[in-house]
Amino acid sequence: MNVVLFGATGMVGQGVLRECLRDPQVTTVLSISRSATGQHHPKLRELIHSDFLDFSAIEDELSGFDACFFCLGVSSAGIKEQDYRRLTYDFTMAAARPLARLNPGMTFVYVSGMGTDGSERGRTMWARVKGQTENALLALPFKAAYMFRPGVIVPLHGIKSKTRLYRVFYALTGPLLPLLEAAFPKYVTTTERVGRAMIDVARHGATRRVLENSDINVVKTQPQPPAPSP
Ligand SMILES: NC(=O)c1ccc[n+]([C@@H]2O[C@H](COP(=O)([O-])OP(=O)(O)OC[C@H]3O[C@@H](n4cnc5c(N)ncnc54)[C@H](OP(=O)(O)O)[C@@H]3O)[C@@H](O)[C@H]2O)c1
Repeated sequence: MNVVLFGATGMVGQGVLRECLRDPQVTTVLSISRSATGQHHPKLRELIHSDFLDFSAIEDELSGFDACFFCLGVSSAGIKEQDYRRLTYDFTMAAARPLARLNPGMTFVYVSGMGTDGSERGRTMWARVKGQTENALLALPFKAAYMFRPGVIVPLHGIKSKTRLYRVFYALTGPLLPLLEAAFPKYVTTTERVGRAMIDVARHGATRRVLENSDINVVKTQPQPPAPSP
């Protein structure tokens, strides 16, 4: 499976990249980001791109993929609706439209979040914008598109959030979070589970298009070979 990954430098994207690199069924990963991941692996190729509203300059690179894992996204805290929409809806659709056109066999997986408002009419700004983004993605002619709505994502394997607020939260609650995941599978997941679930739905599909946190947690995780020594 050839994967194109957005947001590989972020917390969720790092987790997804880790699982892709460890999974023998994933043949190649192309990361498209504005800064390098700092990772080196025979399966990984990186494309540094600056204009996330226009991918025409790199369109030649956008075909030949089986799956796109779209983990680029920002917290809405302190951001005006217009800016949040540009970074959420506009960025995602600017990438998704050419990908759908160039890869009719592609499965597209998007990370939105728990509480996303599919009606697009609710009062919470971020939930509305994410809902609009989900609906627009589901209308594109991909082979399949899945919307992931995780709750709290616990970063594992040394992965760190880029958002200061989240880093403080994880530093304060760190030791408790794995216990919370076990106690509250409806609300808490991990970077590893999100990555494994994305690969699994890209390969085998899922019974629903919108996967809530508990759906992500029950996607079967396959035993992984030990990571190769650096
Ligand atoms: N963290 C959670 O617990 C959680 C829970 C539910 C849903 N989510 C959703 O998951 C998604 C990713 O969250 P995260 O925690 O991984 O966030 P993160 O650690 O802040 O990473 C954000 C990613 O988006 C990229 N990005 C942000 N602004 C950009 C811009 N202007 N241009 C290009 N790239 C940009 C970042 O690239 P740079 O490295 O270049 O900044 C990074 O790769 C978000 O949509 C979030 O709402 C997260």
